Amino acid sequence: MTTENSTVLGIGIIGLGGAAVAMVPRMAFNPRFKIIAAADLDTEILGRFAQDFPDAATHTSAEEMCKDPRIDLVYIATPTILHSQHCELAMSYGKHVLIEKPMTINVEEGTALAESAERQGVLLGVNVKHSFEPRVLRIREMVRTGEFGELRMMHHWRYQDWLYRPRSHEELTPGPGGGILWRQGPHQFDIIRTIGGGMVRSVRGTSAAWDPARRVPGAHAAYLEFENGVFCTAVYSGYDHWDSREFMHGVGKEGIFPDPEKHAAARREQAEATDPDWEDAAARAERYGLGRSDPMEPPTGPSSAGWLLGGPLMVSFDDADVRLSPGGLTVYGNKERSEIPLVTVEDGRDGRLNTFYDAITTDRPLPANARWGNATIELLLAIEQSGEQRKEMFLQHQTPTVD
Ligand SMILES: NC(=O)c1ccc[n+]([C@@H]2O[C@H](COP(=O)([O-])OP(=O)(O)OC[C@H]3O[C@@H](n4cnc5c(N)ncnc54)[C@H](O)[C@@H]3O)[C@@H](O)[C@H]2O)c1
Repeated sequence: MTTENSTVLGIGIIGLGGAAVAMVPRMAFNPRFKIIAAADLDTEILGRFAQDFPDAATHTSAEEMCKDPRIDLVYIATPTILHSQHCELAMSYGKHVLIEKPMTINVEEGTALAESAERQGVLLGVNVKHSFEPRVLRIREMVRTGEFGELRMMHHWRYQDWLYRPRSHEELTPGPGGGILWRQGPHQFDIIRTIGGGMVRSVRGTSAAWDPARRVPGAHAAYLEFENGVFCTAVYSGYDHWDSREFMHGVGKEGIFPDPEKHAAARREQAEATDPDWEDAAARAERYGLGRSDPMEPPTGPSSAGWLLGGPLMVSFDDADVRLSPGGLTVYGNKERSEIPLVTVEDGRDGRLNTFYDAITTDRPLPANARWGNATIELLLAIEQSGEQRKEMFLQHQTPTVD
C-alpha cells in the first residue's frame, strides 16, 4: 500500500460488531488512515478495542465521538435500523461516512441520506467490499474495454450455512433488514450491478422462509434484466445443506475442500444448544475482541477472497465465458482457455477504503456512493415485492457503475 500524498485521514468507528471486526485491521494497517476513536454501547468490547489501540479514544456516545475534529471519516457498523440516524449524526458534524450495507431499509430514507450528503458537501459510500475485489474489478474492466466483445449474461450461485450460524435479533427479525436477502443480497447484487453497469431495468424474484424456527427468509432467487439487455440470475441459500464451495474446486475460508466432518455443523450447533440465551451470547461473541471473533492482525499472505470464492460466478461475453478460479479468473475463449492470475494481499476491503481516500483527497468520483446504495435497496425491495405479487417489477432509482 503506497501513499501518493502525505494526507492521513482520521477514522472514527461507530459499532464494533462483526462487520467492524473484518474492517478494523484493514484500516489499522493502511498508512493512509489512522484510527482515532471508536464508539459502542458495550463497554467490554470498547475495553478490548482499547487494548489493541491504546492511543485511540473510546466513547459510549456516538455523538461525543463525532465531535472529535481529528476524525475525517466515520465508519458506521451499527445495526441496520440505526444506520440512518448515525449517518445523519456524523454528516451533521461535517464527516465523510462509510456506512455498512445495506445502507438503510427503504428508498425514501436512502434518498434523504444521499440528499443530506450532497447538501453538506460530504462523501457517503456503502461498504460493499466484495464489489472491490480484484477479480470483480478485472471482470468489470473486460466489460468496459470490450476485450471479449459485449457482456451478455451472468449467473451467480451461493449455498452456505448463513441461517444456522449464530444470528443477532436483528438478523432474525422478519421484514426489511432481516434474513438472507437483506444481509447477503447487498453483496451479491452489488457485484452483479457493478459488473453489469448498474442500470437494472426489471427483476422477477422471490425470497422465502422455509424453517418456522428461523422465521426470516433463508433463500432467494432472482432473474434480472439490465437496460442494455444483459440478463442475469442470482441464487442464494443459507439453509446449511449443500456448500457451493464444492463447485469452486474446494476454495473457501479454510482454503480446503469443504470438510465432510463439518457438514451441517452450524445446524448441529444450533440443535445441540440447550440454553435459550445461547444464540444471543454466541452472536455477541463475534463482536470485537470477543471469543468468536478473528484477532486483530496485520494482513499477511494472499487474501482468501473467502466470500467471493464461496460460489460460482459465470460471466458470458460474445467471445468468452469467464469464471472465478482459485488463482484469479479462468477465461474460456473462442480458441483457448487461459488463466488471469489475481492472487493479491490487498482485497476488496482495501479497495473500498482506497477509493474513499482518493475521493476525499483528490477529485476522483466515489464508487458505490449513497445513490448506488439506494439503488441496491430498491432492488432488494423489488425482489420481495415480486415474490409477494408474483410479477416482474420495474426499477426507477438505478445508477450507473462509477469506474
Ligand atoms: N460488509 C460486510 O461484510 C458486513 C458483515 C457483517 C455485517 N454487516 C452490516 O454491518 C451492520 C452491523 O452488523 P454486525 O453483524 O456487525 O452487527 P452486530 O450486532 O454484531 O454489531 C453491532 C454493534 O453496534 C453496537 N451498537 C448498537 N447500538 C449502538 C449505538 N447506539 N451506538 C454505538 N454502538 C452501538 C453494538 O453494541 C454492537 O457492538 C449491519 O448493517 C450489517 O448488515 C456488513
